[in-house]
Amino acid sequence: MPADQPATPNLSVNLAPRAKRELILRNPVMTASGTFSNGLEFARVLDYSRLGGIVSKGVTLRPRRGNPNPRIVETPAGMLNSIGFQNVGVSKLLHDVAPVWETWDTPVVVNMLGDTVGEFARLAEALDGAAGVAGVEVNISCPNLDVGGIEFGRDPAAAAAVTEAVRGSTSLPVIVKLTPGVTDIAAIACAVERAGADAICVANSFVGMAIDVQKRRPRTNRTVAGLTGPAIKPLALRLTWETARAVEIPVVGCGGIMDGRDALEFLLAGASAVQIGTAMFRDPWAALRVVDEVEEWCAREGVSQISEVVGQLQVD
Ligand SMILES: Cc1cc2nc3c(=O)[nH]c(=O)nc-3n(C[C@H](O)[C@H](O)[C@H](O)COP(=O)(O)O)c2cc1C
Repeated sequence: MPADQPATPNLSVNLAPRAKRELILRNPVMTASGTFSNGLEFARVLDYSRLGGIVSKGVTLRPRRGNPNPRIVETPAGMLNSIGFQNVGVSKLLHDVAPVWETWDTPVVVNMLGDTVGEFARLAEALDGAAGVAGVEVNISCPNLDVGGIEFGRDPAAAAAVTEAVRGSTSLPVIVKLTPGVTDIAAIACAVERAGADAICVANSFVGMAIDVQKRRPRTNRTVAGLTGPAIKPLALRLTWETARAVEIPVVGCGGIMDGRDALEFLLAGASAVQIGTAMFRDPWAALRVVDEVEEWCAREGVSQISEVVGQLQVD
């Protein structure tokens, strides 16, 4: 290498340093759940070996058909979605899809959700030890049917109960994905950490809505829907910063990240890794572009390890 050429930085991160099985990513860039399907469709055109990790579409115990159309609506600087967790169910996922994941050298984390604490535990048990599955991401932005439908992620005790049940049912690394619609995200994050999470993802989509004025009707099937994309980036960044200050375990930032600079903002705020969601709808190469841009920036800045960036936000 010529003397004036910056050295290639080491971008690798371990998202589960305390777990029985570590979750090592070659770089801190993952795809976000539900925005990349299960990865099979893009496998022929994208070079997955350059991605840090892939997160699957949310899986449930039994298959779900999802909501009727319209499921996706564009908004200024964002997107509303109301997919309704359409998926093939955990048995078919393990039978048909996991064997393909096993052939990839990029870790695939399975995003999962249940209606009750018991369902989360059964899902974690089903995924435990499955070839091709590198970890689980627990979506707690869903209603707890045991207690009248309040989201698990809105209550520290319920969030902890899910985490504990999953932790007790699998030796896989456990990432708990928080819901952003809470008053005190640090309280939820600490509860989840104490209950045994290996890492925390911040965050899921925000709740929003859009109205067709002429029809006087909501523009999505369920009136309210999940808002994602650049519109939520400053909000998700603030939640990531608050979470990272409150916990010791790694935090994964997610929300409106469109390019390398956005990703670096989350890393500086304390995220050890990031997930790219809505950007993949606009450009399926977005996550790979983010990897290149983060790497170039680190090389230019003389960063030799990505840990030299994580949490290095300077505040007075
Ligand atoms: C169409 C769509 C489907 C999604 N499905 C899931 C899901 O199954 N499980 C989950 O935890 N998050 C799901 N999400 C949320 C994303 O993983 C991510 O948290 C959110 O989109 C914010 O990131 P972004 O602004 O980069 O898109 C979905 C988002 C979109 C847009």
